[in-house]
Amino acid sequence: QANLHEGYRLFPLRSNDFERGYLDVLSVLTEVGAHSIDTWNAQFQFMKKHNDTYFTITIMDELTNRVAATGTILIEHKFVHKNGLVGHIEDIAVDSSHQGKKLGIRVIEALKFIGQATGCYKVILDCASKNIPFYEKCGFAPKESQMAWYI
Ligand code: ACO
Repeated sequence: QANLHEGYRLFPLRSNDFERGYLDVLSVLTEVGAHSIDTWNAQFQFMKKHNDTYFTITIMDELTNRVAATGTILIEHKFVHKNGLVGHIEDIAVDSSHQGKKLGIRVIEALKFIGQATGCYKVILDCASKNIPFYEKCGFAPKESQMAWYI
């Protein structure tokens, strides 16, 4: 909380964030699809059931009570590194009207903290080349290559 601008607050994802525009914020990233409250609830409940694996945070704009920024860290369990844990950062999005106010960096700091606190030995992410300078400012360094297979 200490590093957030006045007027913003950090929360874990909450069941009523559907009404607070969570999916609208995600749409700065990619196609979100036409959700109903039922499709939202189904996914929210799945993630809640696996709340040692999925950690999604939001930064709220207190003035409007709308989601301004979000991000997720997924905790992967491995055999290597002696049952090691790896944190995967996913779905970082800052609403266009709130970009450039250091909310993105705050989201990443909070997710790095969760990765550390859960015992991960590393935290990794995939990003567009244009976002490399942003992630470098967040303490990440380029490593290897990203590959994709779309179905
Ligand atoms: N290129 C260069 N520098 C950048 C960029 C960029 N694309 N974006 C931010 N920065 C810099 C800022 O200038 C700032 O630098 P400073 O500390 O020297 O002043 C620093 O990075 C922190 O910037 P923030 O204000 O925290 O950035 P913002 O809140 O706008 O969030 C983000 C950045 C997440 C990329 C946002 O613009 C966004 O949501 N973009 C669209 C969606 C997207 O691309 N998400 C990332 C997908 S990758 C993934 O999910 C793992």
